[in-house]
Amino acid sequence: MKVPMLDLTREYKRIKGEVMSKVEAVFDEQAFILGKHVKELEENLRVYLGVRDVIGVSSGTDALLISLMALGVGEGDEVILPSFTFFATASSVARLGAKPVFADIDIETYNILPEEIEKKITKKTKVIMPVHLYGHPAEIDKIIEIAENYNLEVVEDNAQAIGSEFNGKKTGSFGIAGCLSFYPTKNLGGAGDGGAISTNDEEVSKKCRMIRVHGSERRYFHNIIGINGRLDEIQAAYLNARFKRIEENNNERREIAKKYNELLADLCSKEFLFTPIEKSNCKHVYHQYTIRIPKYRDKLREYLLENGVGCDVYYPLPLHLQKAFSYLGYKEGSLPNTEKASSEVLSLPIFPGLTDDEISFVSETIHKFFR
Ligand SMILES: Cc1ncc(COP(=O)(O)O)c(C=O)c1O
Repeated sequence: MKVPMLDLTREYKRIKGEVMSKVEAVFDEQAFILGKHVKELEENLRVYLGVRDVIGVSSGTDALLISLMALGVGEGDEVILPSFTFFATASSVARLGAKPVFADIDIETYNILPEEIEKKITKKTKVIMPVHLYGHPAEIDKIIEIAENYNLEVVEDNAQAIGSEFNGKKTGSFGIAGCLSFYPTKNLGGAGDGGAISTNDEEVSKKCRMIRVHGSERRYFHNIIGINGRLDEIQAAYLNARFKRIEENNNERREIAKKYNELLADLCSKEFLFTPIEKSNCKHVYHQYTIRIPKYRDKLREYLLENGVGCDVYYPLPLHLQKAFSYLGYKEGSLPNTEKASSEVLSLPIFPGLTDDEISFVSETIHKFFR
């Protein structure tokens, strides 16, 4: 048997008819930019996330960039964020001339630690940017409290966590802005690049809407400097069709995670590996099902790949040790939990349509390795 890390065709087969009729409508209408499908998607997400406004944009990366631009982040400012995340979380800060300041993570949830954030606050700090990594919420209540105490803003990188909840409330609805990605592999994935910003702040929503279209409210009249950060109609139509299944798909991911947890429990109790945790006040949406293997991670990875089980490491080199951020001067050992996670995590196949036989095969192959 072979189990792929990801197979998007399985879910597509379930919804092909509906998706194609929505996409075909865009071609029939020949209106490709910021039309009714983007509006429909924004409204769907606004209601789903329980926020005042959602703005569809060109990617998750641009959602982060536009949010920070709307908050006036620039040269001389510092933004505190995890180093254990995708590159875009920090590059969006650096692109604006501001300084990414990395704080260490919790080794159980892989999310930024509130107490580590607090240690990194200076007079220059403007924003805290937690990431709800792998689909598990960061400790957003404590982070919001710290932000309020120090008069800072919170921008949530919600790229991997659409639908996840903290104390019954959706992530992306806590900070002044939340940023979604519709990169095809995400829990709500498009047929290309796309993203969205969620916000409860009227001023931020107005600014984000302007920045997305070159800083204009009226065509050819520009109030501020913006970018071309629009979401296109084909993407929005495709996403509207897929959106209908977001809860169902997230629940399927949760079921798969539960099965893995049960099948791997014996190895977990022997501390050969650690299965992901879900805190009692959180809903995990398992964008990734990530185990941690204190010894032999790389050997297990090789073994799984050789035996037909897809798996991958997110992320093998933390951002503070990336060449692109060497100018920040971080040394190895400066973020111990982050570095530990990078050398010990391994993500296993999880996606709608993964079968019980495949889940069992993944578990059996892992058991064989440890035998
Ligand atoms: C945590 C995180 N932040 C930001 C992004 C950037 O999103 P995009 O690829 O849509 O630009 C991604 C996804 O790739 C991500 O996983």
